[in-house]
Amino acid sequence: MLETKIHPDSNVGTKTNKKFPNGFLWGAGTSSYQVEGGLDANDWARSNKVPKAGDACDHYNRYATDFAIARDLGHNSHRLSLEWSRIEPEPGKWNEAELKHYHDVLEDLKNKGFTTFVTLHHFTNPVWVAEQKGWESNQTADRFTQYVAKVAQSLGHLIDFWITINEPNIYAAMAYTEGKWPPHKKSIVKTSKVYDHMLHAHNNSYDVIHSYYPDAKVGFAQNITFTRPKHKTLRDRIAARILGWADIGFPYGHTKNDFIGVNHYFNNRVHVSFKPEKNFIEFDEKRGDLTDRGWEIYPEALYQVLLKLKDYNLPVYITENGLADAKDQKRARFISSYLSAVLRAIDKGVLVKGYLHWALMDNFEWEDGYQWKFGLVEVDFETQERKVRPSAYQYKKICESNELGS
Ligand code: FCB
Repeated sequence: MLETKIHPDSNVGTKTNKKFPNGFLWGAGTSSYQVEGGLDANDWARSNKVPKAGDACDHYNRYATDFAIARDLGHNSHRLSLEWSRIEPEPGKWNEAELKHYHDVLEDLKNKGFTTFVTLHHFTNPVWVAEQKGWESNQTADRFTQYVAKVAQSLGHLIDFWITINEPNIYAAMAYTEGKWPPHKKSIVKTSKVYDHMLHAHNNSYDVIHSYYPDAKVGFAQNITFTRPKHKTLRDRIAARILGWADIGFPYGHTKNDFIGVNHYFNNRVHVSFKPEKNFIEFDEKRGDLTDRGWEIYPEALYQVLLKLKDYNLPVYITENGLADAKDQKRARFISSYLSAVLRAIDKGVLVKGYLHWALMDNFEWEDGYQWKFGLVEVDFETQERKVRPSAYQYKKICESNELGS
């Protein structure tokens, strides 16, 4: 097996304490459009500029066997998302059959002993929301909050951790700056409006969920990059500061949270260029060890991100971290090196309390379709056969022993 090289300027792995705190949560994640199949009433399914998920992993029908696999792999927690377009296919009309479906899904997880992390918005919107200007409209936060209230009434007793919105920063940037995701806009003004509306929706949802369940644990999953200046110039340093503030300082300064959900993938060195077509910001070419997706494997970045969160004094859950690795040559080392970074952060006083690997199984990876293999479990999309990757058994050892082997 190929070893994942740890970057030379990383001091990850020097810690001797390999034990995670008691009660640490272990598992993996998915999201509705990426795995369920059969979704056609959301903006992704209707956009003609992106690939479609089609049957995906047919997880809508196979959830019970998929959860049995996760349980056999030693997971005690699981993250999934509810699909708003199933639950509210038209404004104010609740699809009780779909609510019953999600009830069965969550009940199955609970029966199998999992702690549930439930995301309410993971990049997709019902078509009717998209047609009413989506997240550009300041009414979408209210629409979203009504949907969240319905979920709280119908399914709240089965939800342990509420993740209102997945990566508002990435959604706003991909859909409104880069234009790669529906509704394919390219406007910085719209991007910041959308980001703001999503954080507002999160805060309203926080209150609504707490009105039903005062002890609920509510947060959102934020994609947090370790951002550094490429050069020591003032402008590169200012740019790195601003981007770091956009990921952490701004959202956490304005929102109510019972925990911080961290999705972590990136280590960026930023450089201010005078190229308006790049919005004046360039990111350094990736170097070192790369995943199939071309993302750099650099566990020190997670350590640095976690340290930045210490001041908020909230429990932190890694709600996503993982890699595209079709041959499964790097995943086992990836997981142990990133978990080593987590242990170091815990040692420095960061309250990290769980790790959910992305993803439980191969799935639909947005604008890139099915080419990247993020799964602990391999999926044959012709036959829907599942095959556990060897690294998943390495991860199982960690989950079950609650410690990193040597
Ligand atoms: C994250 C998304 C998740 C998946 C991973 C690879 O940004 O939340 O759905 O696509 O990236």
